[in-house]
Amino acid sequence: MTAQIIDGVALSASIREQIAQRAAALTAAGRRPGLAVVLVGEDPASQVYVRNKVSACEKAGFKSELHRMPADTTQAALLAKVDELNKDSSIHGILVQLPLPAHLSSHDVIEAIASEKDVDGFHVSNAGLLMTGKPLFRPCTPYGVMKMLELTGINLRGAEAVVIGASNIVGKPQAMLLLQAGATVTLCNSKTKDLKAHCQRADVLVVATGRAKMITGDMIKPGAVVIDVGINRMDDGKLCGDVDFDSAKEVAAWITPVPGGVGPMTITMLLQNTLEAVERSEVAS
Ligand code: GUN
Repeated sequence: MTAQIIDGVALSASIREQIAQRAAALTAAGRRPGLAVVLVGEDPASQVYVRNKVSACEKAGFKSELHRMPADTTQAALLAKVDELNKDSSIHGILVQLPLPAHLSSHDVIEAIASEKDVDGFHVSNAGLLMTGKPLFRPCTPYGVMKMLELTGINLRGAEAVVIGASNIVGKPQAMLLLQAGATVTLCNSKTKDLKAHCQRADVLVVATGRAKMITGDMIKPGAVVIDVGINRMDDGKLCGDVDFDSAKEVAAWITPVPGGVGPMTITMLLQNTLEAVERSEVAS
């Protein structure tokens, strides 16, 4: 079997077109969507991610601000920046790029973001709303994965879904969203015994471990849907996922590539969340 590709670039293009149309209508009504991205330090990967987010916003017609702060920024200075953005009515979404330098508390910074501007969906009130089945903002990467599954026509009701990696950014919210879509969910972590046995049961396998090519074809159930959230740079400079694409595609029915799979969908759902923030703020005013 050779798997069919779930093309995140193509799916993103059509969603972003609709988002741009909604943004144009909001702008015409004097409510141009605005996203502020805060980057602390010089982490090379974060710089690329942030540049892609800002550029996608501009292409969709959003107002987009990048606030760069030095690596030795104090917690107080970062909290003051968040407070300033909370009060700025032209900004509907605030994203502080993670990871932060080790001397800063990402928890305290996330909690300082106004929950109605928390387009990452990381604030405890947004995490709680997601947990109780009433999400306001869904974290962008798991939201993008759900959109890919929906647009590919994958039926999740009763499916065995296995998520590998239990981070707050991907794994935990991903498990919640899959559960709410009717899947039976297993959430694996770095201590999981016999990871292979869990993987082999998965009708839908979502991999977010941060370890290059960790999941190989022999670990995958024939006909499974394999979603690779990883993005790793190899010694030759090329990008690869957490799944060994070449062996996995011989077993799976559907698979996402890296690059060009989940990555573009994450940014698309950031635009979607920002748009939803504007639309909600209109209803409230
Ligand atoms: N770092 C890696 N992924 C993300 C994300 O989705 N949001 C933020 N703020 N930082 C990240």
